[in-house]
Amino acid sequence: MRFPLSQPSLGEKESGNVRDAMASGWISGTGPFVSAFEGLLRDRTGRAYATAVSSGTTALEIVLSALGIGPGDEVIVPALTFAAPAAAVLTVGAVPVLCDIDADSWTIDPDAARMQLTPRTKALIAVDLMGHPCDYERLATLGVPIVEDAAQAHGARTAHGPAGSFGIASVFSFHVNKAVTSGEGGAVLTDDPELASAIRLLTHHGMSPDRRYHHSVAGRNGRMTNLSAAVGTAQAERWDELVGARAEVERCYRDRLAGRGLLPRPTQPWASPSCWLHCVTSADRDTVVERARRGGVDARAVWPALSDLPLYRRYAPRSCVRASEVSRTAMWLPTWAHMEPRDIAAVADRLM
Ligand SMILES: Cc1ncc(COP(=O)(O)O)c(C=O)c1O
Repeated sequence: MRFPLSQPSLGEKESGNVRDAMASGWISGTGPFVSAFEGLLRDRTGRAYATAVSSGTTALEIVLSALGIGPGDEVIVPALTFAAPAAAVLTVGAVPVLCDIDADSWTIDPDAARMQLTPRTKALIAVDLMGHPCDYERLATLGVPIVEDAAQAHGARTAHGPAGSFGIASVFSFHVNKAVTSGEGGAVLTDDPELASAIRLLTHHGMSPDRRYHHSVAGRNGRMTNLSAAVGTAQAERWDELVGARAEVERCYRDRLAGRGLLPRPTQPWASPSCWLHCVTSADRDTVVERARRGGVDARAVWPALSDLPLYRRYAPRSCVRASEVSRTAMWLPTWAHMEPRDIAAVADRLM
């Protein structure tokens, strides 16, 4: 038996919504499921405005543009993350400034970020890495706009609120490997009405919502389709179930792997992280991954630190040793909602 890294949990509700969308003819970037999905995201995060878009990457690009960030500006980004936040900064013509992570949460280190501030710093993208919220209280003291990247953090929270509620704006990804999915998809959330208008404008071709074909800015088509939103709406209605089921998988892995030399990723007492993909560390990571893969288990080494990649190295003014260390030792194990305990046991056995 083979174990993929992840797989979606799709049921009758998702299929029924897709059939309804097809039957209605509303399959492009407007339609009742898009509005319903946005409403569910507002409820979930407590944000005043939500715009569903075509991907988490699009969400980041749009929010940076809506904040007026472009050539000559700098945006601080953690050195350990999927590359989309850094790529989005480059796409809008600004410079990503890579910053090391905190050893105890693997999220961006506010002290290291402080050392990267310059008069050109226009924002900081705070990635809730692998479902662990950033330290938003300390990040707020930096005095720059924070964009929360909650792409991997559906269902995570701190005492101050849920993931997706922090910073001047927040983004989600609903890519198929996320706890809540729309296939491909993303969203931008904010409480700021002017920023929300700018986000809508940029998402819809820069066209005035009141005057068709009157374009005040060069926008894009960043919309989520009603078909994707049909899936996303069904998934968002199952949010607690899907998040809870992954948390259960994480608990089961922890029990199974206790005392076997694979340590779970660190977490902070002030955070209630969610499980995206169960992540463990080992000094012998590459051997464990290789053994797992030979056994049909799609375990994966985590991303290289961006500061170690030829494309991004030049954007790291200081060394990012903690990001490099985690990228050398951490790996993900197959994780999906309602993964059976016997499958978790089989995966655990094939790691040894
Ligand atoms: C932290 C982070 N930001 C942004 C993205 C981009 O999301 P998408 O794949 O939907 O474009 C991802 C994707 O996994 C991510 O992990």
